[in-house]
Amino acid sequence: MSYVKLNAAKSAIEVIPKRGAMGLGSGSTVAIFAKELGQRIASGEVEVAVVPSSYQAYQLAIDYNIPLTNLDINPELLLTVDGADEIDKKLNLTKGGGGALFREKIVASASKKLIIIADESKLVNHLGTKSQIPVEVFPFSLGMVQRKIKQMGVESTVRQATKKMGPVVTDNGNFILDLKFPKPILTPSQVATDLKLIPGVIETGIFAGMADEVHIGTEDGAYVLKR
Ligand code: 5RP
Repeated sequence: MSYVKLNAAKSAIEVIPKRGAMGLGSGSTVAIFAKELGQRIASGEVEVAVVPSSYQAYQLAIDYNIPLTNLDINPELLLTVDGADEIDKKLNLTKGGGGALFREKIVASASKKLIIIADESKLVNHLGTKSQIPVEVFPFSLGMVQRKIKQMGVESTVRQATKKMGPVVTDNGNFILDLKFPKPILTPSQVATDLKLIPGVIETGIFAGMADEVHIGTEDGAYVLKR
């Protein structure tokens, strides 16, 4: 168990609402948060239901007895707690390391507030520096999307599964392209828009201007960055 991730999770637990509907992100840091949340629910301290952002998050909710809801019952969520792969100085994010970026963005967009839990290794000056940028793509369009992305001067590779032969298939039945930009991304919002204009691109892992707070766990505790 990583104490750094636990400290980030505990810091976020302090700011969640006592009752209501919230989004549950995905990833290993969120898994630790979900366990903490389950304990608070079991003790009666909080009474929240979650919209899961992936099958992983759904399973976490089941495992830790966290009540589930959905965006039809709760189209507006009080907040979402999620992880990130990169966080720039303006709190723009790269997400999708776990392939859940599409539902994560929907859940974040339904939320009044997006809280990110991470460790210091995720902090970057500009997106595209430490991690590649994932893009969820409709399989039928794959070759065409890769060609258009190449025309933008960006390399892309189809993410491959590790315990199955062939590509990763997302929770939504799509593929993931990981994009390697030749230079750090200085205009994340514009890049995300340009990519989304390609027919077949379902969503990008660039979350520009969405995060409100980032709770960074350290060995000793946590600190909060606000937009
Ligand atoms: C999944 C995500 C995760 O939130 C992101 O990859 C961070 O994960 P971790 O907390 O395991 O580092 O975007 O699609």
